[in-house]
Amino acid sequence: MFITFEGSDGSGKTTQIQLLEDYLRKNGQDVQLTREPGGTDIGERVRKVLLDMEHEKMHARTETLLFNAARAQLIEQEIRPALSEGKVVLCDRFADSTVAYQGYGREQDIEELRRLIDFATGGLNPDLTFYLDLPPEEGIRRKLADYQNRLDVQGLSFYRRVEAGYHEMIAQEPERWVIIDAGRSLDDVHQEVVRAVKTKLTAPAPSR
Ligand code: TMP
Repeated sequence: MFITFEGSDGSGKTTQIQLLEDYLRKNGQDVQLTREPGGTDIGERVRKVLLDMEHEKMHARTETLLFNAARAQLIEQEIRPALSEGKVVLCDRFADSTVAYQGYGREQDIEELRRLIDFATGGLNPDLTFYLDLPPEEGIRRKLADYQNRLDVQGLSFYRRVEAGYHEMIAQEPERWVIIDAGRSLDDVHQEVVRAVKTKLTAPAPSR
């Protein structure tokens, strides 16, 4: 099973995915946790290039290609092998982030992006995607207290487009997504995540 976490910056995805990993391991599941961009030696190098504050000249298309280069490597090197071993793969962001950030955020053509994503992923899609829902203002406030990277220095209107983009994607494919109100306590959010995963794990296996 392939589960991804999405949401705006500062929505608590990384903490929640780690809590879910602990929960699944304690319950005897074979779990592989990874992240985008990154998750492989090559991908982590690409991540540094993407997030480097000095790379202010990076063009939107360059950015899109780099995210997808890291993604292709992660899928072939880590995700597909883990799925074929029957593991639960948890990924902190995946292709939906490209549609949300590079598509809606940077206003690049969504259909072109989808073709590129399809090339990078070879058609691999998550079975379940959590959207940690938090108003962009609150996400920015939480992020300001944290470290900053090149992608954190966008204005509020960028994050509003990203948020609207996620909601549009969820409306187009509601069976894959679970929306979680990320403004609540860590434990409340975790319990809701666990409930949704249990439901999915006990449902008939998807055909891949
Ligand atoms: P992270 O902070 O969740 O690790 O993600 C790093 C940044 O990269 C975050 O601002 C979202 C952004 N991002 C994209 O813009 N497009 C993508 O395809 C991915 C995976 C991340």
